[in-house]
Amino acid sequence: MKEQKPYEENQLKILFTLEQIEEKICELGKRISDDYAGLDLVMIGVLRGSTYFLVDLTRRMRIPFAIDFISISHYSEQADSTGVVRITKDLDLSISGKHVLIVEGIVDTGLSLGYLLRNLKTRNPESLKICTLLNVEARRIVEVPVDYKGFDIPNIFVVGYGLDYNEKYRNLQFIAEFNRP
Ligand code: IMP
Ligand code: MG
Repeated sequence: MKEQKPYEENQLKILFTLEQIEEKICELGKRISDDYAGLDLVMIGVLRGSTYFLVDLTRRMRIPFAIDFISISHYSEQADSTGVVRITKDLDLSISGKHVLIVEGIVDTGLSLGYLLRNLKTRNPESLKICTLLNVEARRIVEVPVDYKGFDIPNIFVVGYGLDYNEKYRNLQFIAEFNRP
């Protein structure tokens, strides 16, 4: 059988190692634990890019809270690029009266989170904030308030630590710039 390369290393340039990511997550976990101590908190992971981040972040937190997930899709991923977003898997928990922290892997144009904020606000949470591991300010189309962020990155395409290229590379133990073929 032909030996298979794990991935095309020449397509990947490491930006953040697991050590760097873990250090940053440790800081974020502490800050969020301090800020939300004594409050009724729901952490909402935006599927699927935030999963590794959400797991590691919540493991670093020292307060009780609930976890739920939501999944959104962009029509722009299909034929026409309208930037319209819709929910493909909704929350199971009610967030009315709760303090809500949305956890995202990367905020790019802000279209997804702009939509999500508007949608979740109608459910009357006590507060609604955003935590993202990566932030691409240069690509912003919709203004979104990022309350907690891991790293600012320039306008490049990245994979790893939950982020994908065509659903692959999420499992990489680092974040890398990816040269799309
Ligand atoms: P936005 O709506 O443009 O802010 O896009 C956010 C979503 O696009 C993220 O949740 C990711 O799924 C995806 N995305 C944006 N930039 C990247 C990237 O560089 N690598 C992988 N996924 C990305
Ligand atoms: Mg994606």
